[in-house]
Amino acid sequence: FRQEGIELRYEPGEEILPPISGDPERLKQVFCNVLDNAAKHGGAGRRIDASLTREGTNQVVRVRDYGPGVPAAELPYVKQKFYKGSSKARGSGIGLAVCDEIVRLHGGTFDIANAEGGGAVVTICIPEKE
Ligand SMILES: Nc1ncnc2c1ncn2[C@@H]1O[C@H](COP(=O)(O)OP(=O)(O)OP(=O)(O)O)[C@@H](O)[C@H]1O
Ligand SMILES: [Mg+2]
Repeated sequence: FRQEGIELRYEPGEEILPPISGDPERLKQVFCNVLDNAAKHGGAGRRIDASLTREGTNQVVRVRDYGPGVPAAELPYVKQKFYKGSSKARGSGIGLAVCDEIVRLHGGTFDIANAEGGGAVVTICIPEKE
């Protein structure tokens, strides 16, 4: 990201969250996919914000970029396998479908939306206990 002039901001909160059980390799794949999207589809915004919070009994990861966001008409389809929106960036359109499936297999939810003020925001919710 630094090489591409994109700043990744992550401010860990005060609270130390309890570990959650899951498959670390698959979860890493989810975070890499989401960060890759933020950089390649939203990199024009030059900034990505990531956060981790505890909301009730869920741990919530948010990744927000400051790019063009996802056109509203495409939002219902972006999690479908091989769906590529109007973004001209490289890729086969499989990333979000795989992310969604991995997170669902952890009993959680995976959502993508547009952020207030522009850019896309992905919200990954994983329960502490399934
Ligand atoms: N952060 C984002 N900003 C704008 N559009 C996005 C963003 N993330 C995803 N999209 C849109 O959703 C589509 C689907 O995303 P997905 O990650 O599934 O595929 P991809 O990134 O195009 O290819 P792959 O992940 O297989 O390399 C993208 O082609 C793009 O149009
Ligand atoms: Mg992708």
